[in-house]
Amino acid sequence: MSFSAKSGDHFGTVLDRSPYAVEDSLVKVQYVSRGQNVVFGRSLRAGDHSNLIYIGKILESGKGRSYLAADAWLGTTFPHVIYITGTRGSGKSFDLGVIVEGISRLSDPSPLQNEVTPITSIIIDTQNQFWTLGYPPRVSVPENKDQLEELKRWNLEPNSLAAPKVYVPPGSPRFLGTEATLRIRPSDITAEEWCAFLDQEVYSPQGHIIAKTVEALGGANYELEDILRYIGDDDHWPTEAESSRNAISYRLDDYRRTGLFSSAGLRVKDLLEGGTCNILALRELRNEDKSLITSVIARNLFAILGKHHSKKKTASFFETPFDPDGTPDRVWLVIDEAHVVAPTTQISPARSALVEYVKRGRDAGLSLVLATQQPSALDDRILSQVNLTLSHRLSFQSDINAAINRIPTKSIRAMKYAGTNLTNFGDMIRVLEAGQCFLGDHASSRAVLVQIRPRVTAHGGYSPR
Ligand SMILES: Nc1ncnc2c1ncn2[C@@H]1O[C@H](COP(=O)(O)OP(=O)(O)OP(=O)(O)O)[C@@H](O)[C@H]1O
Ligand SMILES: [Mg+2]
Repeated sequence: MSFSAKSGDHFGTVLDRSPYAVEDSLVKVQYVSRGQNVVFGRSLRAGDHSNLIYIGKILESGKGRSYLAADAWLGTTFPHVIYITGTRGSGKSFDLGVIVEGISRLSDPSPLQNEVTPITSIIIDTQNQFWTLGYPPRVSVPENKDQLEELKRWNLEPNSLAAPKVYVPPGSPRFLGTEATLRIRPSDITAEEWCAFLDQEVYSPQGHIIAKTVEALGGANYELEDILRYIGDDDHWPTEAESSRNAISYRLDDYRRTGLFSSAGLRVKDLLEGGTCNILALRELRNEDKSLITSVIARNLFAILGKHHSKKKTASFFETPFDPDGTPDRVWLVIDEAHVVAPTTQISPARSALVEYVKRGRDAGLSLVLATQQPSALDDRILSQVNLTLSHRLSFQSDINAAINRIPTKSIRAMKYAGTNLTNFGDMIRVLEAGQCFLGDHASSRAVLVQIRPRVTAHGGYSPR
């Protein structure tokens, strides 16, 4: 069913049986018996069902009380750090689409949003898959045909995001014709980020040159050429070796030619118009460029929203007027293939920015959604803040262990799958199909098996015709 009293809004009866019978009882779960709904990601207060997004259905039957086929919702009021794991093709990017559909402003009102105030989001789209969020699935596209049939079964109408913005870096092919160009301002990049980006130690002759240059140019909105000019000027470097300066200049000059940097580049503040979904299509870029862009965005988000909330809090404390300047109260940063953007195995600009973002982002209204097929390849300091997990199919034991370690509730001890007893949680994760996952959160006493709903917007992964 659903929260809605209108029968037309009730979701289809998609599941009446399940091959998954969980033996462990579900002692605590946020269940609303009216309309058969389960809420994840927040504790329910009596009668308040606002800001809930529809994500799918409970897929497990259970001993004692069974919640099979109940509708699953995600609360969006509190900032989340959501961690989505799974092997290739298990449904991770699909989940990101489902979440973004839920939090964004849609072209047509939809029962999948229960009294939702749209939230601004920024998607780090490493595979150029998410531009399709702006379009409903089309009958003429073979890949969309199954999706349209699925939507009918679920009693969901095709929909699209209202005016998402797609950004592509200079030189990347444009596939819509309406994309904005994504460039970043050199003055937005810290000395530490330059070092990580150029693969230089902070405490090295090169690191020293970068720090001194950024400090000297600081305060102004400068070009990459200004950095090169400063480093090239012998007068600034009486004692530093020319080879150290060259080591940086050659690489920076390489980047100058990409056109990715400009003093007229993107200001993160411009992405924050209320409720807009910003899709950064970064497939053509090198991994370190993706990482640098993510870093600049995460750090600026933190600074802008942090300031906004502290101004708001002070105004409320002293009961003085608060002058809203258009900064939203909440932003979700969504990163697909997070192991590419913030790997543990090498220095990456995004790592420390994301650590800061998750540690202190809660007070600033910042959520983070990370998807990865390599659960062991992400920084522990980022993952220690995870409060909700979607665990899709995985095969390798080391990946399974890493994914299970981050589930913020208990795993499952025994489950019957198609008549076979499974007593190892890893084995339960191995048998899942695309779109099925164990959802773990603080509000439920153990992980719960969920079937993620079909997408109402077109799912990417096919070429535009
Ligand atoms: N909830 C779902 N309902 C229906 N089909 C789904 C669902 N989730 C995934 N699928 C199917 O599985 C395919 C792969 O999903 P998706 O692109 O999300 O995989 P992925 O985990 O992101 O893989 P990769 O790591 O290769 O990017 C989709 O194209 C779709 O056909
Ligand atoms: Mg994917």
